[in-house]
Amino acid sequence: MEDAKKLEEFQAKIDADIKIEPKDWMPEKYRQNLVRQISQHAHSEIIGMQPEGNWLTRAPSLRSKKILMAKIQDEAGHGLYLYCAAETLGVSREQFLKWLHEGAAKYSSVFNYPTLTWADIGAIGWLVDGAAIVNQVSLQGTSYGPYSRAMVKICKEESFHQRQGYEIIADLSKGTEEQKQMAQDALNRWWWPSIMMFGPHDGDSAHSNQSLKWKIKRESNDELRQRYVDKTIHQGEILGLTFPDENLKLNEQTGHYDISPIDWDEFWNVVKGNGPGNRIRLAHHIKAHDDGAWVREAAIAYRNKMNAKSKIA
Ligand code: 3HC
Repeated sequence: MEDAKKLEEFQAKIDADIKIEPKDWMPEKYRQNLVRQISQHAHSEIIGMQPEGNWLTRAPSLRSKKILMAKIQDEAGHGLYLYCAAETLGVSREQFLKWLHEGAAKYSSVFNYPTLTWADIGAIGWLVDGAAIVNQVSLQGTSYGPYSRAMVKICKEESFHQRQGYEIIADLSKGTEEQKQMAQDALNRWWWPSIMMFGPHDGDSAHSNQSLKWKIKRESNDELRQRYVDKTIHQGEILGLTFPDENLKLNEQTGHYDISPIDWDEFWNVVKGNGPGNRIRLAHHIKAHDDGAWVREAAIAYRNKMNAKSKIA
């Protein structure tokens, strides 16, 4: 009975758009859903640094290298911000990373694709960060306070990420025939993985119904996907690029772009670990984590020493 009353009060807060804070009562399934989504969001930010880091030493100018360096550092900060938000739900950073390393936790499948040319760095900023912005602007309204506030800061930086990527693609599109082809090739390879970032169709989404009821999500996977498609097509067409979808067409009735069916076999194949980069991404993350153990141990030893000192003083 007591929990039923608490659940009723909890839902009333959600319906009234009152943020849920770490110390508030919450249904265990609400907490678990957030632990899952926020930690996987954090994993995506950190793993997403790898494909871009692949071009740091090969950036075509000092300016482009500085911009890419700044973007990658932003992603690290986004990941740390989100791990901190997830830790307020009572799970440790070590546990999140253990789940990731064991393959029990996911990260966005888009980061399992390789960055073959410099144009890919532009396509990631333009398309992947462009998709992330649509998703994360909506997530600013999420019902869990720490997640919602983390999104506000992250969205501010995400816009710079999208602009710098689009600038790379625009410059290439106005360049030599070979550069134009590089931009087109990158669009061909990153368009569909960016569309898949929004997850399965609403009817196939395991979490959406409950996540929408509890306002963890404010809009559905398909609503956000459609918004991303509608806002991106024009950006590509003014550069003279062709989207890799012969059925792409503006639907006069709905005012939205219709796209071909999404290849869900590819999506689930990559999500399940069989993408081009899954093994490399995870192995690299595990090695970097192990190589950094001495830094964590030194920081903990220093903190313990300072704590002991402050107790004596
Ligand atoms: N890649 C990998 N797994 C995915 C996925 C994707 N693109 N889309 C969905 N999934 C997984 C879900 O995690 C879930 O599996 P789980 O139960 O093991 O967690 C399963 O597929 C079913 O999907 P659902 O739609 O039911 O799952 P959600 O309700 O969680 O919706 C989501 C998926 C829309 C991605 C949602 O989790 C979300 O909004 N997450 C926060 C945003 C995020 O994680 N973005 C990832 C990119 S971050 C980024 O791009 C940073 C930028 O700076 C580069």
